[in-house]
Amino acid sequence: MTASPWAPPPAPPIPGYKPMAVALHWVIAALIAAQLGLGWYMNEVLPDHSPAQEQIEHIHISLGLTLMLVVAVRVLWRLANRPPALPDGLSRWEKTLAHLVHGALYALMVVIPLSGWALVSGRGRPIGFWGASWPAISGLNALSRPELHQLKHIHVFVLIWALVVVWALHVAGAFKHQFDGNPVLWRMAPFLKRRDPKSD
Ligand code: HEM
Repeated sequence: MTASPWAPPPAPPIPGYKPMAVALHWVIAALIAAQLGLGWYMNEVLPDHSPAQEQIEHIHISLGLTLMLVVAVRVLWRLANRPPALPDGLSRWEKTLAHLVHGALYALMVVIPLSGWALVSGRGRPIGFWGASWPAISGLNALSRPELHQLKHIHVFVLIWALVVVWALHVAGAFKHQFDGNPVLWRMAPFLKRRDPKSD
């Protein structure tokens, strides 16, 4: 079908993220969700020092170290590839807040797995990684009980709650803009977008 010469020009497409950025974003989001669930289950539901708790902790540690490696790939990839500019429909403060939230998410993605690695290093026991062994951070293998306790508080309370708050802001922003005329979700989740039959 040919377009009417009187029809308004089509809106320019909003530039999206590259497939690699999309893949890394959703793999990391899924790994973080799994880690939050496992961490809560082993700390709050399973009895302390039970075999089930130790088994889940092995998985949590291996998955956390995997997450750390995937985050390293994401950070390197991000340094080499500029993301698309935020849509022009966002006001100045909204753009500033989006940049601050993205920066905080990157910082937490890096620091949370590192704090977990520091915690298991501090216990002075061998660290397992999917059945293989993983090195401890040198200099951290003789921490005192109060030091370990403090590190655990930072890992399971301070950083995780910071992530939950920043993540909530992030998701709220994504959905707000999706429905106020700036469909940012299609930039990061193009697979959710239904094809427009009029564009065939
Ligand atoms: C339900 C969960 C999530 C949704 C719906 C979501 C949605 C989005 C969307 C729509 C964007 C693109 C914003 C734009 O157009 O500029 C984005 C970017 C981003 N997301 Fe998420 N996200 C989620 C989870 C996460 C998680 C768990 C993290 C990390 C902890 C994360 C970190 C980021 C970062 C850092 C960016 C910016 C990427 C860049 O520009 O380099 N997201 N997200």
